[in-house]
Amino acid sequence: MTLIPGDGIGPEVADATVRVIDACGVKIDWNRVEVTADIIRQSGESIPPAAVESLKVTRLGLTGPVTTPVGGGFQSVNVALRKRFELYANVRPVKTLPGLKTRFQDLNIDMVIFRENTEDLYSGLEHEVVNDVVTGLKVITRAASIKIATAAFKYAKQHGRKKVTAIHKANIMKKADGLFLKCCREVAEMYPQITYNELIVDNASMQLVSKPEQFDVLLLPNLYGDIISDLAAGLVGGLGVVPGANFGDGCAIFESVHGSAPDIAGKGLANPTALMLSAVMMLSHVGEAGAAERLQAAVEAVYAEGRHLTPDVGGAANTAQFADAIIARLC
Ligand code: NAI
Repeated sequence: MTLIPGDGIGPEVADATVRVIDACGVKIDWNRVEVTADIIRQSGESIPPAAVESLKVTRLGLTGPVTTPVGGGFQSVNVALRKRFELYANVRPVKTLPGLKTRFQDLNIDMVIFRENTEDLYSGLEHEVVNDVVTGLKVITRAASIKIATAAFKYAKQHGRKKVTAIHKANIMKKADGLFLKCCREVAEMYPQITYNELIVDNASMQLVSKPEQFDVLLLPNLYGDIISDLAAGLVGGLGVVPGANFGDGCAIFESVHGSAPDIAGKGLANPTALMLSAVMMLSHVGEAGAAERLQAAVEAVYAEGRHLTPDVGGAANTAQFADAIIARLC
């Protein structure tokens, strides 16, 4: 499996995660590839060739965050990897952790977000028409919309989920989001046992913060999916505790949702929960369901006990102490 620790807090959360995976008793042959903002700048490639070569062979990756320049500079590594390996489905389970104090802690939030990963306004097709006038193309295709809708409904069926909510702005972007919705409806018809509904993205945002417990599986195009995923993460404790995975046909990359957190990098304060829960998804994906369940249970137990949490979630432990507490639960 390809391991890209990334930069900033990436290596800290990646090392902690590799330790807990080892403690689960699952032997993984890691192919560690360094990808950092400096390496990208020097190589001039948004994904260094070593990472591409490794992923071509392993078809499986666990990645930490990589610093990305804002308003210019190179393309996000994660976005580049998603495109390069056609990882069309970004999946983020958002679940209340036991004992973790948040404004919504009593609501038992348990939703899974399916975000289309390859097109929409993220296609990178921007053009300066004349000075001070820029256009950006929103690309929505039937092929990609059907794929993500099918992934969401398949998941819902396999995991006993009851409802899929498609989120859109088809009242304004009648053609682009209209096509997305049309595809969602077509796929929904093939899953009559699953309730299907639709919400306009602004209303969905309000509903998410006022009544988040009503949501089950959410199905979104790329841009709304990106924003709503972080909003949803905020409901259950923030970016440090929510996992994420990118699936394509025959390739999957499991990642932390958060960025490289330069404000705390190198201080041992990073919360590795997000990457550890991404590892739970990875273990389940590679057929290690038992290890996945044990790791999930260990993370939940450490949160329920509350004595070894990192500062971002109100604790005083450092990254290594949190990982040690998980390992103690696993042994
Ligand atoms: P960020 O997620 O790095 O940080 C936002 C806030 O959350 C900071 O206060 C940070 O300390 C905190 N935080 C994030 N993860 C945490 C963790 N695991 N434990 C404890 N606290 C945590 O977002 P920001 O500051 O917008 O981005 C920093 C850099 O990361 C930028 O260059 C950005 O482009 C890049 N980035 C990379 C991503 C990736 O490679 N997957 C995803 C998002 C951002």
